[in-house]
Amino acid sequence: MTSSNSPISMIIDCDPGHDDAMALVVAARHANVLGVTTVAGNAPISATTRNARIVLDMIGSTAPLHQGAHRPLVAPPRDASYVHGKSGLDGADLPKPSRPADSEDAVGFIIDTCRAIEGVWLVPTGPLTNIALALRSAPDIARRIAGISLMGGGSFGNRSAAAEFNVWADPEAAAMVFEYGGKLIMSGLDVTHKLQATPQRIAKVRALPGQLASVLADLFVFFSDVYVSRHDNMQGGAVHDPCAVLALTHPQLFTTKPQHVVIELNGEHTRGMTMIDQRGLIERLNPNCEVVWDVQAEEAFDVIVQAIGHYSK
Ligand code: RIB
Ligand code: CA
Repeated sequence: MTSSNSPISMIIDCDPGHDDAMALVVAARHANVLGVTTVAGNAPISATTRNARIVLDMIGSTAPLHQGAHRPLVAPPRDASYVHGKSGLDGADLPKPSRPADSEDAVGFIIDTCRAIEGVWLVPTGPLTNIALALRSAPDIARRIAGISLMGGGSFGNRSAAAEFNVWADPEAAAMVFEYGGKLIMSGLDVTHKLQATPQRIAKVRALPGQLASVLADLFVFFSDVYVSRHDNMQGGAVHDPCAVLALTHPQLFTTKPQHVVIELNGEHTRGMTMIDQRGLIERLNPNCEVVWDVQAEEAFDVIVQAIGHYSK
C-alpha cells in the first residue's frame, strides 16, 4: 500500500512459469496492475505469453497483456523447461487462452505507461530483457518510476553454482537494470528458498473451493515435485516470483539490507552472478539495491492462499 493507503500501481513483467502464475494472482489481489508484459525465459515467448493470458483469464483479469522480447540482448535464448515443462506451465489441466496478447510491443507499453503515470513500480519476475530495453530506449522513465522490485540473483545460483536463472539468462540486461540508479529491490534465492510450497501449504490451496484452487494446487505439486527430486534438502518448490510482489504489498513480512550488487558478465564460471558486497566495511561501496534476505514464510504463503481463495469460486 502507498502512504495514501491506495494499492501500489505496477507492471508485472513475467515468463510464466509456475511461480510467475502465483505472482500474477497475488498482484491482482493486492496491487493495481496496470499491465502484464511477457518475456522469453522459462519457455519461449509464445508459451510464456499464452500462459500469462490463461492465468489472467482464470482470475478474470482485464489487465492489458503485451508480448515482449523473444530472446536476450546478447546471450543465446535458453529456457527452463527442465523445471516448468515444455509448455512452461506443465502439471495441470489448463483452459485454452481466450485471445492473444493485446500487442507485441511490451517495451512500448512499459515506456508509454511510465511516461503517462508517475510512480509506477516495475516488477520483473523473469529475465530482465524488456526492462533493460525500456530503460535504454527511454532513460527518462528511470526518474518517473517508483522503482523496480525484481525476482533474481542471490548469494548462490540455481542455473549454475554462481548464477540464478533470470540473471543468468540475460546478464547484459540485468547489468543495465542494476546500474539504472533508481530504487531497486532484489528478491533473490536467499529469500525465495525460504518460501517453499511444502505439502502442508499446498494442502491449504487444495482445501479451497473452486476450480482455480484445484488447478493452482496441481501446478504447485508439479513445481514442488521437480524441486524435491532435484535437491537433497527441500520440502517443496521455492516460490520465487511472488516475493517480488509481496516485498511491495506486504513489506512487513520481509527483511532487507541496502547493499552494493554488481553483475558478472565475463567470468568463465561466474557469468550471470549477482556479486553482493557483504563486507562490513565502514567505507563501503554505495548501495544500489535493497537485498531481501528473509521472509516470514508461513504468513507470506497464507497471503498467496488467500489471494487464490479470493478468485477461486
Ligand atoms: O530462478 C528462479 C526464477 O527463474 C523464477 O522467476 C522462475 O520463474 C524462473 O523464471
Ligand atoms: Ca519467472
